[in-house]
Amino acid sequence: SHNGINIAIDGPAGAGKSTVARLVAEKLGMVYIDTGAMYRAITWKVLQEGRQAEDDGQVARIARELRIRLEPSEQGQKVFADDQDITSLIREPAINQQVSTIAQHAAVREQLTLLQQQMASGKGVIMDGRDIGTKVLPDAEIKIFLTASVEERARRRFEELRTKYPDLTLEKLKEEIAQRDHTDETRKESPLTQAQDAIEVDTTGMSLSDVTARILEIAERFKS
Ligand code: CDP
Ligand code: CDP
Repeated sequence: SHNGINIAIDGPAGAGKSTVARLVAEKLGMVYIDTGAMYRAITWKVLQEGRQAEDDGQVARIARELRIRLEPSEQGQKVFADDQDITSLIREPAINQQVSTIAQHAAVREQLTLLQQQMASGKGVIMDGRDIGTKVLPDAEIKIFLTASVEERARRRFEELRTKYPDLTLEKLKEEIAQRDHTDETRKESPLTQAQDAIEVDTTGMSLSDVTARILEIAERFKS
Protein backbone atom coordinates (compact mmCIF):
# COMPACT_ATOMS: atom_id res chain seq x y z
CA SER A 1 0.00 0.00 0.00
CA HIS A 2 0.94 3.66 -0.02
CA ASN A 3 0.27 4.15 3.68
CA GLY A 4 2.42 6.90 5.12
CA ILE A 5 3.85 7.90 1.75
CA ASN A 6 3.49 11.52 0.65
CA ILE A 7 3.03 12.52 -2.98
CA ALA A 8 3.71 16.17 -3.89
CA ILE A 9 2.37 17.54 -7.18
CA ASP A 10 3.45 21.02 -8.26
CA GLY A 11 3.22 22.98 -11.47
CA PRO A 12 1.63 25.98 -13.21
CA ALA A 13 -2.11 26.75 -13.56
CA GLY A 14 -4.13 24.36 -15.70
CA ALA A 15 -1.47 21.64 -15.85
CA GLY A 16 -4.03 19.16 -14.51
CA LYS A 17 -2.69 18.92 -10.95
CA SER A 18 -5.97 18.85 -9.03
CA THR A 19 -7.84 16.62 -11.48
CA VAL A 20 -5.02 14.09 -11.68
CA ALA A 21 -4.28 14.25 -7.94
CA ARG A 22 -7.92 13.48 -7.17
CA LEU A 23 -7.95 10.50 -9.55
CA VAL A 24 -4.67 9.13 -8.22
CA ALA A 25 -5.84 9.58 -4.61
CA GLU A 26 -9.02 7.65 -5.39
CA LYS A 27 -7.07 4.83 -7.00
CA LEU A 28 -4.59 4.55 -4.15
CA GLY A 29 -7.06 5.22 -1.35
CA MET A 30 -5.15 8.29 -0.22
CA VAL A 31 -6.29 11.63 1.19
CA TYR A 32 -6.10 14.46 -1.35
CA ILE A 33 -5.33 18.04 -0.27
CA ASP A 34 -5.76 20.98 -2.67
CA THR A 35 -3.56 23.75 -1.24
CA GLY A 36 -4.55 26.25 -3.95
CA ALA A 37 -8.06 26.20 -2.47
CA MET A 38 -6.61 27.54 0.78
CA TYR A 39 -4.96 30.54 -0.92
CA ARG A 40 -8.25 31.06 -2.74
CA ALA A 41 -10.18 30.99 0.55
CA ILE A 42 -8.06 33.79 2.02
CA THR A 43 -8.44 35.77 -1.22
CA TRP A 44 -12.21 35.33 -1.03
CA LYS A 45 -12.28 36.73 2.51
CA VAL A 46 -10.04 39.69 1.62
CA LEU A 47 -12.36 40.63 -1.26
CA GLN A 48 -15.47 40.00 0.81
CA GLU A 49 -14.25 42.46 3.44
CA GLY A 50 -13.46 44.95 0.70
CA ARG A 51 -9.73 45.03 1.50
CA GLN A 52 -6.91 45.51 -0.98
CA ALA A 53 -4.83 42.44 -1.90
CA GLU A 54 -1.71 44.56 -1.23
CA ASP A 55 -2.75 45.54 2.31
CA ASP A 56 -0.11 43.71 4.41
CA GLY A 57 -1.74 44.28 7.79
CA GLN A 58 -5.29 43.34 6.85
CA VAL A 59 -4.23 40.36 4.75
CA ALA A 60 -2.04 39.05 7.58
CA ARG A 61 -4.91 39.43 10.06
CA ILE A 62 -7.32 37.58 7.80
CA ALA A 63 -4.79 34.78 7.27
CA ARG A 64 -4.47 34.46 11.05
CA GLU A 65 -8.18 34.58 11.84
CA LEU A 66 -9.90 32.69 9.03
CA ARG A 67 -10.66 29.07 9.87
CA ILE A 68 -10.19 27.09 6.66
CA ARG A 69 -11.46 23.54 6.48
CA LEU A 70 -11.24 21.06 3.60
CA GLU A 71 -13.74 18.21 3.46
CA PRO A 72 -13.89 15.35 1.00
CA SER A 73 -17.24 14.86 -0.78
CA GLU A 74 -18.73 12.96 -3.74
CA GLN A 75 -18.12 15.91 -6.10
CA GLY A 76 -14.58 16.44 -4.89
CA GLN A 77 -13.19 18.52 -2.09
CA LYS A 78 -15.43 21.04 -0.32
CA VAL A 79 -13.92 24.22 1.08
CA PHE A 80 -15.24 25.95 4.20
CA ALA A 81 -14.26 29.34 5.61
CA ASP A 82 -15.53 29.95 9.16
CA ASP A 83 -18.03 27.13 8.46
CA GLN A 84 -19.42 28.74 5.30
CA ASP A 85 -19.28 26.53 2.20
CA ILE A 86 -17.29 28.61 -0.34
CA THR A 87 -16.41 25.76 -2.73
CA SER A 88 -17.86 27.36 -5.86
CA LEU A 89 -17.19 30.99 -4.81
CA ILE A 90 -13.41 30.52 -4.84
CA ARG A 91 -13.41 29.61 -8.57
CA GLU A 92 -14.82 33.00 -9.62
CA PRO A 93 -12.76 35.12 -12.07
CA ALA A 94 -12.28 37.85 -9.42
CA ILE A 95 -10.45 35.34 -7.23
CA ASN A 96 -8.26 34.17 -10.13
CA GLN A 97 -7.18 37.76 -10.68
CA GLN A 98 -6.13 38.41 -7.07
CA VAL A 99 -4.97 35.08 -5.67
CA SER A 100 -1.33 35.34 -6.81
CA THR A 101 -0.99 38.71 -5.10
CA ILE A 102 -2.40 37.26 -1.87
CA ALA A 103 -0.02 34.29 -2.19
CA GLN A 104 2.97 36.67 -2.23
CA HIS A 105 2.46 37.71 1.42
CA ALA A 106 4.95 36.02 3.75
CA ALA A 107 2.39 35.96 6.59
CA VAL A 108 -0.12 34.11 4.40
CA ARG A 109 2.45 31.56 3.28
CA GLU A 110 3.70 30.89 6.82
CA GLN A 111 0.19 30.33 8.10
CA LEU A 112 -0.90 28.04 5.27
CA THR A 113 2.37 26.09 5.13
CA LEU A 114 1.98 25.19 8.82
CA LEU A 115 -1.64 24.20 8.36
CA GLN A 116 -0.76 22.05 5.34
CA GLN A 117 2.06 20.33 7.22
CA GLN A 118 -0.33 19.58 10.08
CA MET A 119 -2.90 18.15 7.65
CA ALA A 120 -0.27 15.83 6.17
CA SER A 121 1.44 14.70 9.34
CA GLY A 122 1.36 11.01 10.02
CA LYS A 123 -1.16 10.16 7.30
CA GLY A 124 0.42 10.01 3.92
CA VAL A 125 -1.33 12.36 1.53
CA ILE A 126 -1.32 13.51 -2.04
CA MET A 127 -1.02 17.28 -2.03
CA ASP A 128 -0.96 19.68 -4.98
CA GLY A 129 0.13 23.30 -5.24
CA ARG A 130 3.18 25.38 -6.14
CA ASP A 131 5.66 24.79 -3.30
CA ILE A 132 4.73 21.35 -1.97
CA GLY A 133 7.89 19.53 -3.09
CA THR A 134 10.17 22.47 -2.31
CA LYS A 135 8.73 23.84 0.94
CA VAL A 136 5.66 22.19 2.45
CA LEU A 137 6.70 18.53 2.15
CA PRO A 138 10.39 18.61 1.19
CA ASP A 139 10.72 14.96 2.30
CA ALA A 140 7.82 13.69 0.19
CA GLU A 141 8.69 10.25 -1.19
CA ILE A 142 7.27 11.12 -4.61
CA LYS A 143 7.49 14.53 -6.26
CA ILE A 144 5.88 15.29 -9.59
CA PHE A 145 6.26 18.53 -11.54
CA LEU A 146 3.31 18.67 -13.92
CA THR A 147 3.56 21.03 -16.90
CA ALA A 148 2.01 21.70 -20.31
CA SER A 149 2.34 24.50 -22.86
CA VAL A 150 0.52 27.70 -21.87
CA GLU A 151 -1.67 27.37 -24.99
CA GLU A 152 -2.82 23.93 -23.95
CA ARG A 153 -3.39 24.94 -20.34
CA ALA A 154 -5.48 27.93 -21.45
CA ARG A 155 -7.51 25.71 -23.80
CA ARG A 156 -8.26 23.28 -20.96
CA ARG A 157 -9.46 26.07 -18.70
CA PHE A 158 -11.48 27.61 -21.53
CA GLU A 159 -13.35 24.35 -22.14
CA GLU A 160 -14.06 24.17 -18.44
CA LEU A 161 -15.36 27.75 -18.07
CA ARG A 162 -16.80 28.86 -21.44
CA THR A 163 -20.45 27.92 -20.75
CA LYS A 164 -20.48 29.53 -17.32
CA TYR A 165 -18.68 32.73 -18.42
CA PRO A 166 -19.78 33.62 -21.99
CA ASP A 167 -17.62 36.79 -22.01
CA LEU A 168 -14.44 34.84 -21.49
CA THR A 169 -12.11 34.49 -24.49
CA LEU A 170 -9.27 32.04 -24.96
CA GLU A 171 -6.92 34.99 -25.44
CA LYS A 172 -7.94 36.64 -22.15
CA LEU A 173 -7.56 33.39 -20.29
CA LYS A 174 -4.13 32.74 -21.75
CA GLU A 175 -3.01 36.19 -20.66
CA GLU A 176 -4.36 35.72 -17.14
CA ILE A 177 -2.68 32.33 -16.76
CA ALA A 178 0.66 33.62 -18.07
CA GLN A 179 0.46 36.60 -15.69
CA ARG A 180 -0.34 34.38 -12.70
CA ASP A 181 2.49 31.95 -13.58
CA HIS A 182 4.89 34.88 -13.79
CA THR A 183 3.85 36.23 -10.37
CA ASP A 184 4.10 32.72 -8.85
CA GLU A 185 7.53 32.05 -10.40
CA THR A 186 9.12 35.36 -9.44
CA ARG A 187 7.81 35.96 -5.90
CA LYS A 188 10.27 36.14 -3.03
CA GLU A 189 8.72 33.54 -0.70
CA SER A 190 8.82 29.95 -1.99
CA PRO A 191 8.25 30.67 -5.67
CA LEU A 192 6.90 28.08 -8.10
CA THR A 193 9.93 26.04 -9.12
CA GLN A 194 10.67 22.40 -9.83
CA ALA A 195 12.26 20.60 -6.86
CA GLN A 196 15.65 19.06 -7.71
CA ASP A 197 14.33 15.57 -7.01
CA ALA A 198 10.97 16.02 -8.78
CA ILE A 199 10.03 14.03 -11.86
CA GLU A 200 8.80 16.34 -14.62
CA VAL A 201 5.76 15.19 -16.58
CA ASP A 202 4.96 17.34 -19.62
CA THR A 203 1.28 16.67 -20.26
CA THR A 204 1.00 18.62 -23.53
CA GLY A 205 -0.98 16.35 -25.84
CA MET A 206 -1.65 13.80 -23.12
CA SER A 207 -5.14 12.74 -22.06
CA LEU A 208 -6.18 12.74 -18.41
CA SER A 209 -6.10 8.96 -18.28
CA ASP A 210 -2.59 8.92 -19.82
CA VAL A 211 -1.36 11.32 -17.15
CA THR A 212 -3.05 9.41 -14.34
CA ALA A 213 -1.55 6.14 -15.58
CA ARG A 214 1.89 7.75 -15.71
CA ILE A 215 1.67 8.98 -12.11
CA LEU A 216 0.38 5.60 -10.91
CA GLU A 217 3.30 3.94 -12.66
CA ILE A 218 5.73 6.25 -10.82
CA ALA A 219 3.92 5.63 -7.50
CA GLU A 220 4.10 1.87 -8.03
CA ARG A 221 7.87 2.00 -7.45
CA PHE A 222 7.40 3.46 -3.98
CA LYS A 223 4.98 0.95 -2.49
CA SER A 224 5.79 0.09 1.09
O1 CDP B 1 -6.18 25.61 -10.12
P1 CDP B 1 -5.15 26.64 -10.48
O2 CDP B 1 -3.89 25.99 -10.94
O3 CDP B 1 -5.64 27.70 -11.38
O4 CDP B 1 -4.78 27.42 -9.16
P2 CDP B 1 -4.67 26.89 -7.69
O5 CDP B 1 -3.88 25.64 -7.60
O6 CDP B 1 -6.03 26.89 -7.12
O7 CDP B 1 -3.78 28.02 -7.02
C1 CDP B 1 -4.19 29.38 -7.04
C2 CDP B 1 -3.02 30.26 -6.68
O8 CDP B 1 -2.67 30.03 -5.31
C3 CDP B 1 -1.74 30.05 -7.45
O9 CDP B 1 -1.71 30.76 -8.67
C4 CDP B 1 -0.68 30.56 -6.46
O10 CDP B 1 -0.57 31.96 -6.52
C5 CDP B 1 -1.28 30.18 -5.11
N1 CDP B 1 -0.71 28.95 -4.55
C6 CDP B 1 0.52 29.02 -3.94
O11 CDP B 1 1.13 30.08 -3.94
N2 CDP B 1 1.06 27.92 -3.33
C7 CDP B 1 0.40 26.75 -3.33
N3 CDP B 1 0.95 25.69 -2.70
C8 CDP B 1 -0.84 26.65 -3.97
C9 CDP B 1 -1.38 27.76 -4.59
O1 CDP C 1 -5.04 21.98 -10.90
P1 CDP C 1 -4.54 22.55 -12.19
O2 CDP C 1 -4.74 24.01 -12.29
O3 CDP C 1 -3.14 22.16 -12.49
O4 CDP C 1 -5.42 21.89 -13.36
P2 CDP C 1 -6.86 21.22 -13.31
O5 CDP C 1 -7.83 22.20 -12.81
O6 CDP C 1 -6.79 19.91 -12.65
O7 CDP C 1 -7.12 20.90 -14.84
C1 CDP C 1 -7.55 21.84 -15.78
C2 CDP C 1 -8.49 21.20 -16.81
O8 CDP C 1 -7.73 20.46 -17.78
C3 CDP C 1 -9.50 20.21 -16.24
O9 CDP C 1 -10.76 20.52 -16.80
C4 CDP C 1 -9.01 18.86 -16.71
O10 CDP C 1 -10.07 17.96 -16.91
C5 CDP C 1 -8.32 19.19 -18.03
N1 CDP C 1 -7.26 18.25 -18.49
C6 CDP C 1 -6.23 17.86 -17.68
O11 CDP C 1 -6.22 18.25 -16.53
N2 CDP C 1 -5.21 17.03 -18.10
C7 CDP C 1 -5.19 16.58 -19.36
N3 CDP C 1 -4.21 15.78 -19.75
C8 CDP C 1 -6.21 16.97 -20.21
C9 CDP C 1 -7.23 17.81 -19.75
